[in-house]
Amino acid sequence: MHLFYLEGKQMADIRRPDDMVRITTPERADAFIEEQIDLIKKQVGDKKVLLALSGGVDSSVVAALLIKAIGQQLVCVHVNHGLLRKGEPEQVIEVFKNQMNANLIYVDATDRFLDKLAGVSDPETKRKIIGGEFIEVFAEEARKLDGIKFLAQGTIWPDILESEAGIKAHHNAGGLPEDLSFELVEPVRILFKDEVRMVGKQLGLPDGMVYRQPFPGPGLGVRCPGAITRDRLEAVRESDAILREEFAKNGLEGKVWQYFTVVPDFKSTGVKDGKRTFDWPCIIRAINTTDVMEVTVEHLPDALIDHLVDRIIKEVKGINRVLFDYTPKPPATVEYE
Ligand code: XMP
Repeated sequence: MHLFYLEGKQMADIRRPDDMVRITTPERADAFIEEQIDLIKKQVGDKKVLLALSGGVDSSVVAALLIKAIGQQLVCVHVNHGLLRKGEPEQVIEVFKNQMNANLIYVDATDRFLDKLAGVSDPETKRKIIGGEFIEVFAEEARKLDGIKFLAQGTIWPDILESEAGIKAHHNAGGLPEDLSFELVEPVRILFKDEVRMVGKQLGLPDGMVYRQPFPGPGLGVRCPGAITRDRLEAVRESDAILREEFAKNGLEGKVWQYFTVVPDFKSTGVKDGKRTFDWPCIIRAINTTDVMEVTVEHLPDALIDHLVDRIIKEVKGINRVLFDYTPKPPATVEYE
């Protein structure tokens, strides 16, 4: 069954057909998967494909598709930049290496990233360091490998539309140095996000991965405003884990667009067990939106707020106050940096 008539086209020329049916059912997702597997096999032959697997929805779906199509010819590289959420690298290894038997290279580059970021407080400089270092680590891994001909990317249709409209630069070939020139494999480039999720679900990825909330590339780095220190970063990671756990328990996972914590770089006085403390506040942000241009705030039940305050204060080292951000966008942005 050929739904999309993509065969024989160069990757860059593949566009979403105007009359393409939206993939809203498991049957359509299965048809798409079948066709893509066929196309990937024809494009790649017996050559090897490299993929930067972040654990985000798009790269995870691309990995699952390629594993199904070419198995061990796919080499996944998961770079842990030390700014991932609690449990994320472990989940990538569990799902792709242990369950799907992927050829996965795990690089723990935490020290390298955090050392480079030490003392850097300007948000744009932080972002550039994280992005630049990521490419460097990935390129180093790529150079160690022999016989890679293709680079797979989780480009999706809105990325292409936005880059054509000049809104966002679409990093072709991941911004890799010129000596690493690969032919692209972009099996979900004609799909919208909801379709990518449907395909991911049909490929057997866990719900936690398929319905994940958006997470910025620079990770928790933008939620640890100012110069990142390991102890404050840990407070962000632990408080975020508690927030996610409580949202899941209270049926809010998948309903609220994005929710996270921020630990700003200032301290205030508190009291614990009769003793003075001087610790950071933890800010909770929970928002809803359709296009992220304008967002509204999700108001949480009082009992949940009380419970979150209690848990975060008790369980997270270095926090003595919990605040809730009631500001929509505009005037505030979603992230703090
Ligand atoms: P803002 O803060 O601009 O965020 O209102 C809008 C959406 O974009 C995400 N975001 C990022 N995603 N790299 C990313 O990949 C980034 O540097 C970045 N900054 C913000 C943010 O999480 C929200 O969903």
